[in-house]
Amino acid sequence: MSRRPFLAGNWKMNKLVGEAVDLVKGIVDGVKGIIDKDILVCPPFTALSEVSKIVKGTNVNLGAQNCSYKDSGAYTGEISPSMLLDLGCSYVILGHSERRTYFGETNEIINEKAKLAISKGLKIVYCVGEVLEERKNNQTFDVIKKQLDQVLYNLDLNSVIIAYEPVWAIGTGLTASPEQAEEVHSFIRKTVSNIVKDAGKNFDVNDLVILYGGSVKSSSIKGLMECEDVDGGLIGGASLKAEEFLNIINNAK
Ligand code: PGA
Repeated sequence: MSRRPFLAGNWKMNKLVGEAVDLVKGIVDGVKGIIDKDILVCPPFTALSEVSKIVKGTNVNLGAQNCSYKDSGAYTGEISPSMLLDLGCSYVILGHSERRTYFGETNEIINEKAKLAISKGLKIVYCVGEVLEERKNNQTFDVIKKQLDQVLYNLDLNSVIIAYEPVWAIGTGLTASPEQAEEVHSFIRKTVSNIVKDAGKNFDVNDLVILYGGSVKSSSIKGLMECEDVDGGLIGGASLKAEEFLNIINNAK
């Protein structure tokens, strides 16, 4: 088993280029010498180029928040995996609930994006999670199983990180309790194990990194990461200030 703490910041549609540069400088300075954790920042597309220059050669990895399912051509407004690699990205977030909700992304579209991104050499952070109504109706496991089954079946799982982000916890200040998180994280590991078996894949599911996301703070990360199947966090709001993101990284054991 080769899992180690993984902390990712999803900056969403925040930070002008100058602000992004200031933020990432603070992060790079603060994580110097940390060699036992993986650290990732995902700025908006417009800041990738400048942020890339600052993280180059450091222990901070660079990711994007989305990519196209096409790699070049007449697709106005799209950004391809090759363009992200060209800027120094090694990761891309896919399937975030905000993309599913506001931009109509389906599991099928996300699978197309993921297939292309991985084939070009990116790793993906694939987000899954239920909305509040689904949780209330006891549909959480069904929803997540479908999100996993329909997207992962033909992917190289060595290039996949999963982020469980209950939609009711994103940006709301409501964090899932460690028990609620662990219940779903262990279900995710079991479900991926079944996908591996069904598809005859050669992959040890104990190596799968599963992040929790949804209002993570420096005060909640420790309890979440005490759970066996919680390997780190995908952090939105609290990753926009270097000090708080660094506290989260330091409290993640
Ligand atoms: P949040 O966002 O930490 O602001 O809740 C997490 C995410 O959406 O990735």
